[in-house]
Amino acid sequence: MTAMSFIVLISGNGTNLQSIIDTIEAGQMNASLSAVISNNAEAYGLTRAKNHAIVTRVIDHRLYDSRDSFDQALHRCIQEFEPDYIVLAGFMRILGSAFINTYRHKILNIHPSLLPKYKGLNTYQRAMENRETEHGVSIHLVTSELDAGPVLMLGRYSIEEGNTLADLEQKGHRLEHRMYPKVLQWLSEKKLQIGNHGIEFEQQILRKPIEFDQ
Ligand code: GRF
Repeated sequence: MTAMSFIVLISGNGTNLQSIIDTIEAGQMNASLSAVISNNAEAYGLTRAKNHAIVTRVIDHRLYDSRDSFDQALHRCIQEFEPDYIVLAGFMRILGSAFINTYRHKILNIHPSLLPKYKGLNTYQRAMENRETEHGVSIHLVTSELDAGPVLMLGRYSIEEGNTLADLEQKGHRLEHRMYPKVLQWLSEKKLQIGNHGIEFEQQILRKPIEFDQ
């Protein structure tokens, strides 16, 4: 089976990117990263990519006068690589629907909550303020509605009495770094397939998100 190619879009630290790189380098995923693209030239994730000889590109959103023109520049950049999937990993820009439709079924995102709960930002804080006893991570397909595309995988953890924001972030990140490589590995093996017919896992239509087995 030919290796899948992914492009990872980042804006910051890139710990999820690192977990994907490590999984590929450990030979656990038949895939390659054709490029890492950031809207932020200072993103530490770019250094991580360079450390592993992965092609990097910066498309600084501040140099574009509209979301659309930024999206078009991103599209032109991605076209060069013809990736199978575009993997958003801490990419802090909202993509417009024209871009999203161009890459229908091909854009994934990781979000730090159990979607559909807590879309948007500051999910840990909001979960704590609401005295939730459970929080988690979602990996979902990107559609034009923010954080609302079909969820492929959910990972859960409990919020214990006395947990701080930092504790939750740590629990969340730990899960994320195992979940994203797993989903990408399944895509590369075609165990998980996404297309016009819907999402299939082991040849069965996925009717609800896969629960990440810890
Ligand atoms: C992750 O926590 C992810 O859930 C959110 O952005 C964060 C990115 O972290 N979308 P990193 O840059 O991968 O360390």
